[in-house]
Amino acid sequence: MRGQGCSSAAAGFGVAASRDRPDLFRREAFGGLYYRRRDASFHAFDHAQTALFHLAREQSLVDAFPAFERRFGTDARAYAETLTHWQQQGFIDDGFRSHAELRDNPPGWRAASAPLITHVELTQACNLRCTHCFVPVMARRSADELSVAQLHALFADLDALGAPVIVLAGGEPMIRPDFLDILEGVAQHRLDARLCTNATLVTADNARAMVDAQVRCFSVSLDGPDAATHEHLRGPGRFAHAIRGIEHLVAAGADDVHLRVTLTPHNIDRLADFAPLARSLGVSRVVFKPFRQSGEAGGADDHHIDRRVVVATAHEVQSHWPGDAPPADFFDGMPTPAPAFTQLIPAFGCVGGTTSATITFDGHVTGCGPTKSSADWTLHEHGFAEAWRDAPTLRSWRVLDGNETCSTCGNVASCRGGCRVRALGKGRTMNDPDPWAPCGDEAPASPTSAGRSLTVL
Ligand SMILES: C[S@@+](CC[C@H](N)C(=O)[O-])C[C@H]1O[C@@H](n2cnc3c(N)ncnc32)[C@H](O)[C@@H]1O
Ligand code: SF4
Ligand code: SF4
Repeated sequence: MRGQGCSSAAAGFGVAASRDRPDLFRREAFGGLYYRRRDASFHAFDHAQTALFHLAREQSLVDAFPAFERRFGTDARAYAETLTHWQQQGFIDDGFRSHAELRDNPPGWRAASAPLITHVELTQACNLRCTHCFVPVMARRSADELSVAQLHALFADLDALGAPVIVLAGGEPMIRPDFLDILEGVAQHRLDARLCTNATLVTADNARAMVDAQVRCFSVSLDGPDAATHEHLRGPGRFAHAIRGIEHLVAAGADDVHLRVTLTPHNIDRLADFAPLARSLGVSRVVFKPFRQSGEAGGADDHHIDRRVVVATAHEVQSHWPGDAPPADFFDGMPTPAPAFTQLIPAFGCVGGTTSATITFDGHVTGCGPTKSSADWTLHEHGFAEAWRDAPTLRSWRVLDGNETCSTCGNVASCRGGCRVRALGKGRTMNDPDPWAPCGDEAPASPTSAGRSLTVL
């Protein structure tokens, strides 16, 4: 169970347990976004709902109907239905009041006022050399890495913006000797963090410390259900190390541990074998995502896998996935846009720069890690909020207008041209078609079980 031993004394972090944190509500150009902590999900409100929600911060909504009716002409039945729905969703309590914290951000330019999810690369250093990795990993830590103080300042900015969902990645984030100090800032600023790790550096002690620091979700890379398959990508001896790390996390009381499997031709026939392994390890979920030929892995042709093979295998495995195993999520490698009602769908392209940001290890603010450029604004010069709002490179993500191939393709409404970092490379630009996209395909629909919700962890 999460929270076992989560007292501030045990963690030494002096913060309230995450379960006690209030939800958030932030203003947006289209109305507002409610962030519900219990499942790390965002919910979009239009302008009338936003006005009503603000009233719920001050008074019981039962008493607010006459004023609301005068302003918005809402009838009593619709009003009552809204209140019932909001109670069921946990947006208001039994007394029809809300206790969410408010954030009053300036509206975003063609984007959310702040990201829904922020990827933070803590380092480019790594103890492994996985053959499929898109990150230009280094043996040593760079002198340009963001310091603990700079990271804590970033976390404070994200909290102030109502952007509580972060993904800690790298490189291998746990390679930093000050990793637990970094987590102290995550806890202090009340962020909901997912840690992406190869788990080889997890010990019984640091697993407990991470659980106490309220890391919300652990996404552990496991690229095969046995040593030979995993180690084909990750190197000798790594399977046992990763399994031991996962066991420490589960034993420490982490209640949301995912196995994160990158699909390649080498493991695609072994997916069903993750079900018994996940069950015996006691993890909460298995997440399958295809290899992405991008960044440093742009030339890794031997890992390239056909999209139709991934989709067909995912359908097959999902239909036989045992009911008593932890659930499995299959992603087809196409970006999942925000739902239409948020009006946060870019005209062309993915979520990068619109609802998602990446902070590189040296403080560049970009739409997605592999697109980092010297033109990106940095935290040092501009701070996060200003960079998110105004940085020209981020703005360029929001004005991609597509290309002839995409604009005449029948699938563009659902795929929006696909992944921008896959589109890049081999002389192409971000505005080009994604070579993985299902252009003109009659392939079965995406197996993404997460659907198009805004659940972000
Ligand atoms: C870049 S790693 C960083 C965190 C950590 N070092 C790890 O391996 O989990 C994050 C995730 O990206 C995955 N990944 C790396 N290169 C990839 C690629 N070319 N395509 C798809 N996923 C990739 C890794 O397998 C891992 O699950
Ligand atoms: S996938 Fe993770 S563990 Fe492997 S080289 Fe890349 S950063 Fe390191
Ligand atoms: S560029 Fe690709 S990987 Fe990056 S956010 Fe967009 S879809 Fe995701």
